[in-house]
Amino acid sequence: MQICRTIKEIRAFVAKCRAEGQTVGLVPTMGYFHRGHLSLMREAKKSCHRVVVSLFVNPLQFGPKEDFSQYPRDFDRDCAMAEEVGVDAIFSPPDSEMYPEGFCTHVEVTGITGRLCGLSRPGHFRGVTTVVTKLFNIITPDKAFFGQKDAQQAMVIRRMAEDLNMGLEIVVLPTVREEDGLAMSSRNVYLDRDQRQNATVLYRSLCAFREAVDRGERDAESLRRSITKMIASTPGAEIDYVEILSVPNLEPVASLQGKVIAALAVRFGRTRLIDNIIVEV
Ligand code: PAJ
Repeated sequence: MQICRTIKEIRAFVAKCRAEGQTVGLVPTMGYFHRGHLSLMREAKKSCHRVVVSLFVNPLQFGPKEDFSQYPRDFDRDCAMAEEVGVDAIFSPPDSEMYPEGFCTHVEVTGITGRLCGLSRPGHFRGVTTVVTKLFNIITPDKAFFGQKDAQQAMVIRRMAEDLNMGLEIVVLPTVREEDGLAMSSRNVYLDRDQRQNATVLYRSLCAFREAVDRGERDAESLRRSITKMIASTPGAEIDYVEILSVPNLEPVASLQGKVIAALAVRFGRTRLIDNIIVEV
């Protein structure tokens, strides 16, 4: 597995793949890998000749009061895990390589970024779409792989790739969970024992939502209230948002129809967790 620190190196790697007639898949990440990341890499490996994983904790997508400097990092462990699933190259540039002095161009998706995490983390998606555009331009992948865990992010990137004719396929893969249902996240390591236990309410509340829909409940506000009630009664859980919106436009719905997403963000102490489920009625 090749480790590239500069744009020049990763471009040379990709050029070599192209010269050999190989397709290239990209898995963009911020590292501290877990089974969620690995499932994207494995899937990429299945459908592309070569897989590049970018590992870059993108300062542009963190707010001033967020956890950029504390974000968990373990480069050696990440490399070993990526190598084991057959990743061909890691692109892990320093900040100065991605954002040299004078950098002042951003990519912004409007509309669907105005809800959910876009509301509670102003500027977050602008940081994501800017870095992902740079990665697409640097690596020029045939396909890029994202997780359903960050459903809004996947929708925003799909929209961006389509609107700007980026000419690659965006593949979105299911959320990988711990045995008790908690969605895997690099941030789960911040949780203490009680918080970790209590955090299982996120997925339990989404399953209860799905069961209610299966039983015929269609009133979005009533469904939203049930999720909220379940989470609010859990010790230490502070709700950031619980929303039920249409897919893929993320518009409010009164009565469930077609594809809808129940999405939530909840804080346990200083750790903010997100999860979601999509149902079709
Ligand atoms: P990061 O949080 O490292 O996630 C990298 C990819 O892994 C994302 O597509 C995310 O949706 C996916 N992922 C995370 N947890 C998952 C889980 N439990 N199951 C399945 N997939 C999961 O998302 C980012 O990094 C950044 O915003 C990035 C796109 C790299 C831009 O900086």
